[in-house]
Amino acid sequence: MTQSIAILDFGSQYAQLIARRVREAHVYCELFPWDAPQEKILSVNPKGFILSGGPKSVYEENAPFIQEFILKTNLPILGICYGMQALTHALGGQVDPSAQREYGQALIEPQFSNPLVSNLSQVWMSHGDRITKLPDGFVALAKSQNSPFAAMGDVKRNYFGVQFHPEVNHTPNGEKLLKHFVVDICGVEPNWTPESIIEESVARIQKQVGSERVLAAVSGGVDSSVAAALVHKAIGDQLVSVFVDTGLLRKNEGAQVASAFRDHLHSELIVVDASDEYFSALQGVTEPEQKRKIVGEKFIRIFEAQAKQVGQPKFLVQGTIYPDVVESSAPDRNKAEKIKTHHNVGGLPEDMQFELVEPLRYLFKDEVRAVGEALGLPESLVWRQPFPGPGLTVRCLGEVTRERVSRLRAADAILIEELSKEKFLGKGAQTSQAFVVLLPVRSVGVMGDQRTYQEAAAIRVVTTEDFMTADWARLPHDLLARVSSRIVNEVEGINRVVYDITSKPPATIEWE
Ligand code: XMP
Repeated sequence: MTQSIAILDFGSQYAQLIARRVREAHVYCELFPWDAPQEKILSVNPKGFILSGGPKSVYEENAPFIQEFILKTNLPILGICYGMQALTHALGGQVDPSAQREYGQALIEPQFSNPLVSNLSQVWMSHGDRITKLPDGFVALAKSQNSPFAAMGDVKRNYFGVQFHPEVNHTPNGEKLLKHFVVDICGVEPNWTPESIIEESVARIQKQVGSERVLAAVSGGVDSSVAAALVHKAIGDQLVSVFVDTGLLRKNEGAQVASAFRDHLHSELIVVDASDEYFSALQGVTEPEQKRKIVGEKFIRIFEAQAKQVGQPKFLVQGTIYPDVVESSAPDRNKAEKIKTHHNVGGLPEDMQFELVEPLRYLFKDEVRAVGEALGLPESLVWRQPFPGPGLTVRCLGEVTRERVSRLRAADAILIEELSKEKFLGKGAQTSQAFVVLLPVRSVGVMGDQRTYQEAAAIRVVTTEDFMTADWARLPHDLLARVSSRIVNEVEGINRVVYDITSKPPATIEWE
């Protein structure tokens, strides 16, 4: 069984980041609420524990604590921030409020030669309380101006604590600390690689579905494609993949998805051309929520019919990824969860009885991409930018007609082509999402000697890490000029192009 690290979440906004850093060190880990049941935590075969930070003070009422069985395992422990304080408190040391909160950059000075802290100097702090007396057996490994015990360790028991946050980018070399802990101290072999992920998933999928047939709804997005590709690798022709072409995808996208499945994966793909149905349902509708509803409901109906046609398989593939799982299990994030289901592949019918196959359930997005590449999916699909479930309806403001969508697609394709040429989009690129929005606004222009009265297009290009906040991309003016001139010259019906220079917040990324 895979060896792992259990990360106990004491309420930190960075808990997921700790997990990502550990996975980047090719070590498998899972996140648990600090009070998760013992059987659950031990079921992942942990070789050590990382305790996250958290907003409480150890002396507060109802403050989270280290469950007793954790200490009884005698496995290594690394406490980060609150985790360090909880460890100190549990082992008989003293934690007190600091005279002042320490927040932001700080410099630490090693006090004791130990590889855990030897690469570090600049660190990121964010804490109110601090340790004033170490528990027995501990020594100070580093100090900062505000904390005599910025890092502590008991090398006999392999217990360590750091007051700062090694998981954030603001702590250069912080990832080395985490890697040293999980690989050298906990002794986990760093063999969590795309290949091992694939091997394990294949075995798990085969065990789950046996000889049953499995249905997959492919949207063209990264997650649903990689999920289907993994299942195909595991069970071959038992998988039936369905791709509903709504007519609301970007230029050539339908063809790209079909080619990725047929040519790269050699997997059967049922393509349903439903564009007529979608355009007639959307006729005359301009209200954004109503458009979304129509698209969602249509998808369900078409998918149901397809499922029947292929004999109603027992299993359904879902591209749920680890952040979705973590976020939806947190009690106060129900709202986010709801938004997510809405965002998913059209939202599947509740009364359809499927058993779910979720091969990406424990993977982060970067792992999903690495697995996709290892499975042979084309780069254009694996590094595809996010695209809203309701498709171009979201970006075609006003009425969604075949003609307007084709205008929008043509303009969008020009933008994407120009940005990709200059490496502003795609793998490792500086921008995260780029698209054109067609506005239901006409204005006067002049082309040749002709007066024109046509629609306007807005260009939206953003940089973002997590899509929760975003900034508009400072693109070179020449590039913008080229895009604008090509759109107006090549796309019938658009005579004006504007660049959206609003950040999120206050705006959103999409217009709608
Ligand atoms: P906003 O516009 O809310 O978008 O700033 C944040 C990110 O989510 C994408 N988005 C969607 N994705 N279904 C999806 O699957 C949707 O309905 C949807 N709406 C927005 C958007 O493209 C951006 O990446």
